Amino acid sequence: MDEIQLPEDTMTVAFPFGIPVLLVKKQGTVYALSNKCAHMGCTLSRGTLWGYTIQCPCHEWSFDIRTGTFITAGQIRIPVYETKVENNKIYVKI
Ligand code: FES
Repeated sequence: MDEIQLPEDTMTVAFPFGIPVLLVKKQGTVYALSNKCAHMGCTLSRGTLWGYTIQCPCHEWSFDIRTGTFITAGQIRIPVYETKVENNKIYVKI
């Protein structure tokens, strides 16, 4: 995906290898995490972004976009992926 398609403080979904990945750009850094909530699998991209926290639209579980950690109980996580921006392209390491 071209980096220009992901403005600051926005999110979008990509499907590298068919995997739903939520991409979020904050402070010039692109974060990539699973787009499926750890609770019941709802689509996080329909949720609300508060700073570095994404809140699931279904039952309001919140996750840190940098680590995938569930805010209320740190032992619960969703997968996060390494990203790299090169020549205005966003690469996600699956
Ligand atoms: S499915 Fe996300 S909080 Fe329930």
